[in-house]
Amino acid sequence: MNNDLANTIRSKVDIVDIIGERIPLVSKGKNFFGVCPFHDDTNPSMCVSREKQIYTCFSCHATGNVYTFLMNYEHIDFKEALKYLGDKVGIDTGSIKIAKKSTKFDKLYDAYNLSLKYFQNNLNSGIGKEAKAYLAKRSIDEKIIKEFEIGLSLEKRDDLTKLLTSKDYDLVTLNRIGLSSDDHDIYNDRIMFPLYDVNGRVVGFSGRIYKDVDQNKYLNTKETDIFKKGEMLYHYHIAREVCREKKSVIVMEGFMDVIRASTIGIKNTVALMGTALTKEQISLLKRLSNNIILCLDGDGPGQHATEAIGDHLLEQGLEVKVIVLPDPDDPDTYILKNGKERFEGLVDSAINFSDYKMQKMKESVDFRSDEEKAAYINKVIVETAKLTDPIRREVILKRLAKEFDIGYNTLEMRMNSLLEDKPKEEAIVIPKKKSTKKDKYTKAYEQILYFMLNKDWVITQVEKEKIIFPTEVMRTTCSEIIYYYKKYGIINVADFYTYVQDKENILTFLNSILAEDYVEDTTKDELFEYFKVIKEYIKKQEITRLTNKMKKETDPIEQAKIVEKIRKLRLGDS
Ligand code: GTP
Ligand code: MN
Repeated sequence: MNNDLANTIRSKVDIVDIIGERIPLVSKGKNFFGVCPFHDDTNPSMCVSREKQIYTCFSCHATGNVYTFLMNYEHIDFKEALKYLGDKVGIDTGSIKIAKKSTKFDKLYDAYNLSLKYFQNNLNSGIGKEAKAYLAKRSIDEKIIKEFEIGLSLEKRDDLTKLLTSKDYDLVTLNRIGLSSDDHDIYNDRIMFPLYDVNGRVVGFSGRIYKDVDQNKYLNTKETDIFKKGEMLYHYHIAREVCREKKSVIVMEGFMDVIRASTIGIKNTVALMGTALTKEQISLLKRLSNNIILCLDGDGPGQHATEAIGDHLLEQGLEVKVIVLPDPDDPDTYILKNGKERFEGLVDSAINFSDYKMQKMKESVDFRSDEEKAAYINKVIVETAKLTDPIRREVILKRLAKEFDIGYNTLEMRMNSLLEDKPKEEAIVIPKKKSTKKDKYTKAYEQILYFMLNKDWVITQVEKEKIIFPTEVMRTTCSEIIYYYKKYGIINVADFYTYVQDKENILTFLNSILAEDYVEDTTKDELFEYFKVIKEYIKKQEITRLTNKMKKETDPIEQAKIVEKIRKLRLGDS
């Protein structure tokens, strides 16, 4: 592995910037705090240290440097994280080779890649003529076919099954991973749209009918180890970079909508593939942007979904806007009918979700009925109270007062009573580090390891004094530190993280050390005080061991020998 290059690149970026671009951080003292993205939380339990260039979460114990953060947050591998940061600081990472870690799902990915090639091949051969004509009719040209890797499955065949069994896949596996049904292909004469995971790997397909047949419009791959429909968003891997640039993400219903938007250059889009929104999808959306623009179908179900999803996203503290399409258009048909400029206009004039909701509420009210009118006004006030911006609240209430000729004060009083019930928004409270009940000796050992990570001369002293650590993880950490120092001639925590990024036990251990507030610097005298503490510990342990041994010993002569040993230990001349 190219640690030298990795360390050079790491030293040129600031972890606070990289993490801060992705999650809001507030500074407090020397450190920065944010809501940890690696577990379900609303408290700022992640601490980012500019000084040490590392992050630690007090709650879920995630820890690491800028590389581990990017790898876990963006679901990318080390090489991709290295390339991303290298590009940022203008260092070419093209020449480096890092062996790809093999996973138990490699065969699964391979099967899907082979299937992809097979489907693409069908569409591009003579047999795909009718499917091509269908696609052309829907204005999907060769360029889009290529870009979105669209293919074709054939009618009542076993070609793909045979192809895969010839490559050592057995039928049981092919059935399990959703490519075959018994001994024939599962997809039957459909246009095949590959579905990608967050890293852009093909993990499933959605097959669409293209002839007039009485079948479900789409057939999706069943859930497998690598394909969980509720945990993916179509187009996520492409949208990732674009959303950051555009500072927003547009959410659509179907992947055809996303494909269409892409043809007019709008790529900060994802599709839900069905309208239910899962917790996992919300967390993916949060990674793309805090500004969500809902652009669902203009029909009844689409409008319903807009309300339900918008509420959900608002609760999560996201900014939600809505693009309203004329019923029954979806983004695909709207763009085809009206073109790029008109659609861009809709995106630019997307309305706030709360305005959309109030507009919707109004539609169903019969204003001739006083009761309905009052109920409506109350509902608007309830919605308004949910908004955090006091100016917006006032604007809405003033409008309401004018529209229904009601005193502003009456409305405001009603809203204020709702606001009082609402739990107060807490000022950011940094959670206290959990105080652990480690004994004096454990603490001494950990402090020594922490010195080693920060001061190279301590490493030399530990070797010289032949300090043996009491637990397996401490011993491994110690030998890794020594190895690292010998190899690179320097030591610091942030770079050490790159080196141990795959070693789960060491990472967990480092997190527990970092939670302890150990000091970084020491003097030789102080260090020897620590050595003294642990030597005392070793002695105590030995005495305990001998005492137990003596209790079991029946031979009085042996017993006496042990007693003598214990006495000597106590005197300290052993
Ligand atoms: P086209 O009719 O090809 O334009 O598709 P669309 O994008 O307009 O699809 P629609 O709005 O009907 O549905 C949105 C999404 O729901 C699709 O992208 C699919 O993922 C999913 N979906 C729609 N119909 C079916 C179906 O019959 N079966 C399954 N499993 N999913 C479907
Ligand atoms: Mn459509």
